[in-house]
Amino acid sequence: MPRDEEPAYPGGAGARPRDDLEPGHTYPELPERPSLGAYREAAAHCRACDLWKTGTQTVFGEGKREARVVFVGEQPGDQEDRAGRPFVGPAGRVLDEALAEAGIDRETVYVTNAVKHFKWRAAGKRRLHEKPNRREVAACRLWLDAELAILRPQVVVCLGATAAQALIAPAFRVTRERGKLIDSPLAPHVIATVHPSSILRAPEETREDEMRSFVADLKVVAKVIRSL
Ligand code: URA
Repeated sequence: MPRDEEPAYPGGAGARPRDDLEPGHTYPELPERPSLGAYREAAAHCRACDLWKTGTQTVFGEGKREARVVFVGEQPGDQEDRAGRPFVGPAGRVLDEALAEAGIDRETVYVTNAVKHFKWRAAGKRRLHEKPNRREVAACRLWLDAELAILRPQVVVCLGATAAQALIAPAFRVTRERGKLIDSPLAPHVIATVHPSSILRAPEETREDEMRSFVADLKVVAKVIRSL
C-alpha cells in the first residue's frame, strides 16, 4: 500500500478512536506499531466508557496471530473478568464442546468480544451479567477493529446478537439468519450463530436440541475452514 494510502491509525482501516465519546471518557495512547500485544497493553488503560470502573480488568482477545478464524462474543463474564481471558467460564466450556463436536480446534482460532469489560449488577454476593448498551459497544469497537485489522481473518463468526448487530447490521436477527454465510466487507466469510450462554439458559427439555443446532452452525464454519 502506498504510504499516503496507509490508514490513519496503525491498527488498520477502521481502527479509529471515536471522537464522540461522552465527556470524561478517553482512549489511551494507541501503539505506533500495530501488534496484538501492543493493542492489548493499550486496551488495559481504556477509559472510553465507565465499565473499567467496575470490571476487574480489560479482557482482550486471545489466540494465535496466524488464526484465520475469529469468534466474537458479547463481553467477558464473571470468570473471564477475574481470569483476564475470554471464554474460560461456563459459556466457554459450551463453546469448547461445540467446537470439538464440529471438528474445529480451539487452539487454531482467535476468540474475542465486542465489549472488553464485564458489565454486571450486584445481586447479593453474585455479579449478574448486564447487556452492554449501544454506546459501550461503540466505544469498544476500536479494539475489535484493531484485532480484525491485524489478524485479517478469513472467517468471522459472531456469537449472539450483540456481536452480530455490532459487526453485521444493527437490525440483524440471529434467530432468522443463523448458520448462513453473509456478504460483508469484514472478511471473506462471515456468519452468525447464537451465543453459547443461550444454551446454558435454555430449558432442560430443549437444551440438547439447541446444542445440536449450535454445532450444526459451527459445522458450516468447519466446512469453510476446510475449503481455505
Ligand atoms: N460470554 C461472552 O460473550 N464472552 C466471554 O468471553 C464469556 C462469556
